[in-house]
Amino acid sequence: MASYTFFHLLLLVLLFSSHEIEKRCSWGREMANHEEHDTYAVEMKSLTPATTCKGKAQKRGLTLAHRQGPCSPLAAHRQSRDSKGIFLRDQARVHSINILRQSRMLIAGNHGENARLPIRSSSPRASEFVVTIGLGTPKVDLTLIFDTGSDITWTQCKPCLGCYPQKDPLFEPSKSTTSSPCSASNCTYSIDYADGSHSNGYYVRDLLTLTPEYQFQDFIFGCSENNSHDFGATSGILGLGQGDKTLISRVEQKFSNIFCYCIPGSKNSNGYLLFGFDALSNCQTENITPLIIDQHEPSFYFVNLVGIALGNQKFSLSSESPPPKTIIDSGTTFTRLPPSIYNAVREEFDKYMSKYPRAKSPSTVWTLDTCYDLRGQENVNLPTVTLQFEKTNVTLDPSAIVWRVNDDDAQVCLAFKPNPKRPDQAIIGNAQQRNLNILFNIRDEEFHFGRGDCAN
Ligand SMILES: *[C@@H]1O[C@H](CO)[C@@H](O)[C@H](O)[C@H]1NC(C)=O
Ligand SMILES: *[C@@H]1O[C@H](CO)[C@@H](O)[C@H](O)[C@H]1NC(C)=O
Ligand SMILES: *[C@@H]1O[C@H](CO)[C@@H](O)[C@H](O)[C@H]1NC(C)=O
Repeated sequence: MASYTFFHLLLLVLLFSSHEIEKRCSWGREMANHEEHDTYAVEMKSLTPATTCKGKAQKRGLTLAHRQGPCSPLAAHRQSRDSKGIFLRDQARVHSINILRQSRMLIAGNHGENARLPIRSSSPRASEFVVTIGLGTPKVDLTLIFDTGSDITWTQCKPCLGCYPQKDPLFEPSKSTTSSPCSASNCTYSIDYADGSHSNGYYVRDLLTLTPEYQFQDFIFGCSENNSHDFGATSGILGLGQGDKTLISRVEQKFSNIFCYCIPGSKNSNGYLLFGFDALSNCQTENITPLIIDQHEPSFYFVNLVGIALGNQKFSLSSESPPPKTIIDSGTTFTRLPPSIYNAVREEFDKYMSKYPRAKSPSTVWTLDTCYDLRGQENVNLPTVTLQFEKTNVTLDPSAIVWRVNDDDAQVCLAFKPNPKRPDQAIIGNAQQRNLNILFNIRDEEFHFGRGDCAN
């Protein structure tokens, strides 16, 4: 108990001193400048992924990489951007969130507050980012899908009834000197994801090594022995939702229920994922808004998004009726807005882009519908986009506004989409979270945002 209090005192001191450092930092002034001007000039080149990984492995915390990019531990060499795959996975993710929230509402409605919900989760197969953790003794490195919307952490284990091919060797609990099997009746898990995929197995406790400083004994994770689908050569899922089998609820004391990540600004750079003290000391943030936790929907993190501004033009979400609930999700790529807001944003964006020729959306699967042909342009002027939250405003990174469709052609599209099936819901996707520090302080129910340091 004493050490716990001491730890929090340390955190406080650190928080305070990091605010002091920020005040003196020059990028604070740059941000202020962005707010005065209503456009950014973005180099076209910067919107194209390069052929090699420029990002160095992170010195602190875990390295967060795009799973298909040249920095991915899963890709031996650079693959060309599979935009189509990203679009399809993104749609599958949002579809799974839509139906999951729908079914939870029905269950809650039918059985009242105490209804025991089956373990279901939105589709982690759609998530684009991976991290590598260590499990057991001797430590085995496993590359897992990073997912703030998943309630369970699992990896495929040997022996396995129905495992899909993964890049890492299968984890063998019997070969780990620190593993202990769970021997109660609640030792098996079974999870049905909302995209129809399924995973089941048993729980094991073992040493989890995130970084040399962050090791957790007796971490409970799922040892998967039967999977219906392929989870893209990864070794499983790192679930950062709030369900009772996640990293968050399992090792909360150790890192005080705080984590922070930065989604890389391009596919050839690395992001980071930090926990606890490391997160507070390395993730600079200056904007705070409440994190809204809904006990009925533990796999989602909600935030009160009140509006979105393009340049000086503001569009209010809070005046919609009903005001949409907004999820911050690492597994969705493109931010979803209620259709009325999306249409207004798109019209305003088109005004800024009127000097460029409009381009047709390349095919129906892309589904980004506001595209421009930027052939011959070295730079593109984009409106600044600001997300307005309760108590704070966050200006997006220039790389978060448009999506360059192909590596070779010069077509860019507005990287937002409407969600006509759920006009009462918005989702902040990872394309818009790029190069921001996003710190989840679950204990104090706060989100912190700041300009991240994972652009290159
Ligand atoms: C099973 O239940 C026991 C007693 O409630 C608990 O201590 C243990 O953590 C549970 N195991 C799992 C894997 O949830
Ligand atoms: C394996 O998973 C399938 C669903 O994909 C399920 O029907 C089957 O019962 C599972 N088998 C075992 C042995 O758990
Ligand atoms: C955010 O922006 C809106 C619109 O410009 C403004 O009214 C509001 O005061 C800003 N909020 C903060 C906390 O700066």
